[in-house]
Amino acid sequence: MNLKKQIECIALDDQGLGIFKIKNKTFKASNLLPKEEAIVLIDDKEKAKVIKIVTPSTKRTKVKCDIYDKCGSCHLLHMDYQEQLEFKKNYFIEAYKDYGINVDVDFMIGAKKKQAYRNKMQVAYKFEKGIAKYGFFEENSHNIVQLSKCLVQTDLQQKIADKVFDFIIKNKIEIYNEDKKKGIVRYLLLKEGFDTKEVMVVIVTNGNILPRSSILIKELKSDFPEIKTIVQNINNRSTNIILGEEEKILFGDGYIYDYLLGKKFKISSKSFFQINPEQTQKMYNKIIEFADFDTKDVVIDAYSGVGTIGIVLSDRVGHILSVESNKKAVEDAIVNSKLNDIHNIRFVCEDATIYLDLLAKDKIKVNGIIIDPPRKGSTESFLNNIINLKIKKVVYVSCEPKTQARDVSILISKGYRIVKTAVIDMFCGTNNVESICYLEYRGE
Ligand SMILES: C[S@@+](CC[C@H](N)C(=O)[O-])C[C@H]1O[C@@H](n2cnc3c(N)ncnc32)[C@H](O)[C@@H]1O
Repeated sequence: MNLKKQIECIALDDQGLGIFKIKNKTFKASNLLPKEEAIVLIDDKEKAKVIKIVTPSTKRTKVKCDIYDKCGSCHLLHMDYQEQLEFKKNYFIEAYKDYGINVDVDFMIGAKKKQAYRNKMQVAYKFEKGIAKYGFFEENSHNIVQLSKCLVQTDLQQKIADKVFDFIIKNKIEIYNEDKKKGIVRYLLLKEGFDTKEVMVVIVTNGNILPRSSILIKELKSDFPEIKTIVQNINNRSTNIILGEEEKILFGDGYIYDYLLGKKFKISSKSFFQINPEQTQKMYNKIIEFADFDTKDVVIDAYSGVGTIGIVLSDRVGHILSVESNKKAVEDAIVNSKLNDIHNIRFVCEDATIYLDLLAKDKIKVNGIIIDPPRKGSTESFLNNIINLKIKKVVYVSCEPKTQARDVSILISKGYRIVKTAVIDMFCGTNNVESICYLEYRGE
């Protein structure tokens, strides 16, 4: 094709892309809102790109990001914030409708801080057409969008990333070449404790040599007193996975700390920690409010990561059984419980489905369960065992309402009823939707 045409956007798809038709053929493009007229360019692969908005929607807002049209991370930045929340609310409602469930969003939890909310930054280094670049990967590609300023990262993260890049260029440290599998520096990972103001710098290299590392450490420490540790992670594999197994601590202890709802957490390069602390704390508070557990209750924290939900709940319940399949996350969870002097959580490293099966066979008395699985959701066997264990209170937390709705429909078919729901805007500007569905057993 290779066509320039004026179109009208008829609706948004569930990713936030604008849908339009040309001669009954459907196309999609980012940066469009319903009822907007725009000039689009359609290339020979039938990919559409908006060139000019002719009649802007009243719900459109000025995009302040310079790399918006290339980066593809923040799909909804052109919508005003209220509209972004509406989009996420509808996504949740529609996901449930697909399973025949009519549900409302009782709490739509927007964010105060819509920019600079990420406590983690991850950038790649690449040589493209003779130019050294650092930044994020373009959507569905391995090209780099050179970073000038990213709205969701903090100024401090940006300044540290700029400094490391300048150092690489000035000192002619070889940037890794994916095709030739040669070169040294591959990625930079930064983690920032918003409460503690501590920063961790992780430089990912191919091979274990990082030239002039002692000078880099000296300069980083002197320019940024917030940096508490610098780690070199060695990743010789040619995969998309950023971190390798081996690590060298170049400065500090190899970890930082941060707080969530007054509890202290140790964060290492590989440990999972929610990226938006403001919204995470609101979400954890909603879990506490919805379930309203008793101090004698036995509660399962399933898919528990580094134990954050169980740890913040520990003062309010009798006992917690925490299950997580990632060994490193369980080790971190145990450290975190010790840091907070918590003695009523049992940490189990196991597949959640297998663990629930064991509990059901032993007929363990459980009053409540919190489920926070990965995007693909939970399993039928896991859900059946919630019923076998006669667990009254189920709090289902999810970053994918579609699989959450699928699993909730199974629970409903076995006698559970939805009591309360919440959608949390954890990733402002993006099309990611985080939600809580709280259910109670009401009988067959
Ligand atoms: C969305 S994260 C949960 C994070 C945690 N609840 C929190 O709030 O920080 C999902 C977790 O499920 C774990 N996981 C994935 N599959 C699992 C399984 N089959 N059994 C147990 N845990 C699993 C992952 O390792 C990950 O830590």
